[in-house]
Amino acid sequence: MVKIGILGVGTVGASVANILETNADILEARAGKKIIAKSGVVKNLSKDRGVSIALSDDPMDVVNDPEIEIVVELMGGVEEPYALVKKALENGKAVVTANKALLAYHRYELQEIAGDIPLMYEASTAGGIPIIGALRNGLTANHIESIQGIMNGTTNYMLTKMINEGALYDDILKESQELGYAEADPTFDVGGFDASHKLLILASIAYGIDAKPEDILIEGIQNITQTDVNFAKEFGYEIKLLGIAKKAENGVELRVHPTMIPASSMIAKVDGVMNAVSVVGDRVGETMYYGAGAGGDATASAVIADIVDIVRGNTGPMLGYKKGLESGLTLLPQEEISTHYYLRMEVDDKSGVLAAITRELEKFDISIESMLQQPHNSDDKVKLLFTTHECQEARIREAIEVLKGLDCIYGEIVMMRIEK
Ligand code: HSE
Repeated sequence: MVKIGILGVGTVGASVANILETNADILEARAGKKIIAKSGVVKNLSKDRGVSIALSDDPMDVVNDPEIEIVVELMGGVEEPYALVKKALENGKAVVTANKALLAYHRYELQEIAGDIPLMYEASTAGGIPIIGALRNGLTANHIESIQGIMNGTTNYMLTKMINEGALYDDILKESQELGYAEADPTFDVGGFDASHKLLILASIAYGIDAKPEDILIEGIQNITQTDVNFAKEFGYEIKLLGIAKKAENGVELRVHPTMIPASSMIAKVDGVMNAVSVVGDRVGETMYYGAGAGGDATASAVIADIVDIVRGNTGPMLGYKKGLESGLTLLPQEEISTHYYLRMEVDDKSGVLAAITRELEKFDISIESMLQQPHNSDDKVKLLFTTHECQEARIREAIEVLKGLDCIYGEIVMMRIEK
């Protein structure tokens, strides 16, 4: 028999305890041993958690319990769970965590501390989708060319509603919070940070890149308007908040941002709170994974998969590479990212304006691919919307700065990246 302890018995923790009980027969058959949730830790003992396991408000009751072999960390936060996971590993206990923020900041230190003790984290990325297992095991024969995915359900729900129903940003944010998918502070969702944590975890397995969220390009969905949505529709694109990891000539691009993608692509059809990840391997080609990215039972399903894997004795490096061996790949500086761009700006509706803008773009060797001009009803200004051929991030950023200085352009210039 293997006993587990749960740090954080919220929605996911309660689902873990309940599934271990209700599906005990198949889990024992699959793992080869009985798995029992012995105890859990909560902050507030007076709240009913809907579980039959013993509860305490002292994490040490789990972390130092000699009977507990596997500690499941579902607390959230970074530094407190880090200290507890570290202590559990030092006590020789295997750990399963769903905590993406913890791993975004401390995965390499934890890998070091864990050594040969299992530390698993399937539930940290894309909830119930077994994407960690796919990358660590199923695709291990491949050089990974790219990972591209919808890794945040809240923003996908918001974008779907904005695009399909013309819903307003603030209304739809409130609605998605009520659905229970959003982070406690929804800035983590709409600002792209939640997705960046997940992308960094995947990039560690695929490329061995030890980057922190601060090191990579992260943009949220806050500046998207109906104008952008309508342009995307007219030119055959969907807008999705994507996490992208891509092997380029001189390094690996890691970025999270709203992206225009062809409406015909599979990922463009992933709507609502669902997540999806496409992984391209050099041998297998494109593979695609789809499912619930959050929610009690879906996330618990991934947590329990790790528990069973540990009980079965599956080991291997926590991240993609054995200690001391490296991929030889490094993070590509943001300025060297290369893609297509969409630009939106408000300009005077008079002769010579278009020429002035294209003259500046030409100086940066930026070539326009398509263009749309939308007159205002009320004044003598127009909205200009461009897409460009592929160019480097540094050049588009510099060009935007120069364009902002032109007298004929008003307010912000909004830029969105396009992936073909
Ligand atoms: N806030 C996250 C989302 C939950 O919306 O996808 C899962 O990490």
